[in-house]
Amino acid sequence: MPADGNHQRDQLNRNKLSLGLFGLNCSGGLAVTTVPERWEASWENNLNAALMADEAGLDFMLPLGRWKGYGGITDHNASNFETLTWASGILASTRNLMVFGTVHVSLFNPVVAAKQMVTADHIGQGRFGINIVCGWNSDEFDMLGVNLAQHDDRYDQGQEWLDVVTRAWSSTEPFDYDGEFYQVHKTDINPKPYGGGRPVIVCAGNSPRGRDYAARNADMMFTNLRMHIDEVPATISELKGMAAAYNREIGVFSNVAVVCRPTKKEAEEYFHYYAVENADLDAVEYMIEGRGLKKPGVSGEALHAARLRAAGGNGALPIIGDPDYVAALMKRLSECEISALAIGFTNYLNEFPYFRDEVLPRLASKGLRTS
Ligand SMILES: Cc1cc2nc3c(=O)[nH]c(=O)nc-3n(C[C@H](O)[C@H](O)[C@H](O)COP(=O)(O)O)c2cc1C
Repeated sequence: MPADGNHQRDQLNRNKLSLGLFGLNCSGGLAVTTVPERWEASWENNLNAALMADEAGLDFMLPLGRWKGYGGITDHNASNFETLTWASGILASTRNLMVFGTVHVSLFNPVVAAKQMVTADHIGQGRFGINIVCGWNSDEFDMLGVNLAQHDDRYDQGQEWLDVVTRAWSSTEPFDYDGEFYQVHKTDINPKPYGGGRPVIVCAGNSPRGRDYAARNADMMFTNLRMHIDEVPATISELKGMAAAYNREIGVFSNVAVVCRPTKKEAEEYFHYYAVENADLDAVEYMIEGRGLKKPGVSGEALHAARLRAAGGNGALPIIGDPDYVAALMKRLSECEISALAIGFTNYLNEFPYFRDEVLPRLASKGLRTS
């Protein structure tokens, strides 16, 4: 992660390729499947997976920001923990890893959110990070009685929201802010973030406007690898150029769905079992429609790929193979300048131990992580 001289938080600087678990706070996690071993997002399971990840030296835990299910047989993600309270609980129980909250800007008053995040940050002694999501699924906003603004307006609101949050974190004097979306007066919150500096800021998005917002504000952009891997370096270099125009540096986070087995055949068979034979088809359809991936003119092949990625891991890049293959592909992604991978497994407690024992040492021997 680029150092901006501001924060002293080093969880994401420990390894060349940071790794974390993604989506555990929601039922089903990332995999949109009906298999009986699919993820049950109980607090006990979340805590046990976090303790296992912390012990194994993973770098972070990242929640999905969800309020409502995707329907289908499982009503995928319908049982979900609110992420700032989730992060506080995980931070209280772990020692080293960074824990993110995934925050929808328009749902939280920025001064209240700034204070909630400072609270989590003190609980974790500087290990809290924020993943900002500007809004995606309109039915969730309807459920909360909040209007989801037009796409670009969401980012205008997001800019004001972050301006207020970062001022509240840093200002040693009461301040006023008079924006279009937020007006606050004599604002002064204490304490400030733990130990000086501020929490790591990640912004999730894909569009040009989303990239501009991240380039202007984020330490890292969280983005889907929808393009061919050969196109990734140019896409990232363009993003870094956009950040440089704001006199900033930026890293890149991406999401992957991992199935690792002793042989490629076993891994592919398991992927086929959960993501094809037992995909929760209605939830998959709802997910890709909500993301605008089903628009007129999209080829059958592209739709098939979108469905497979949705079922396999909520749109994440699938990494399916034996430990050598998984480690080699992660190395390739690191060479493309991706600095962090947020991992989904069908069942984190069942799948992570094999990944820990077989893939982490291979990544260490490739110089991507400390052993
Ligand atoms: C990798 C990634 C993860 C995301 N995670 C969430 C999430 O957990 N909750 C959510 O509501 N939106 C999430 N989003 C949606 C984004 O915040 C954003 O609203 C969406 O991508 C549309 O913006 P865009 O057109 O700029 O990409 C995610 C987006 C990406 C690319």
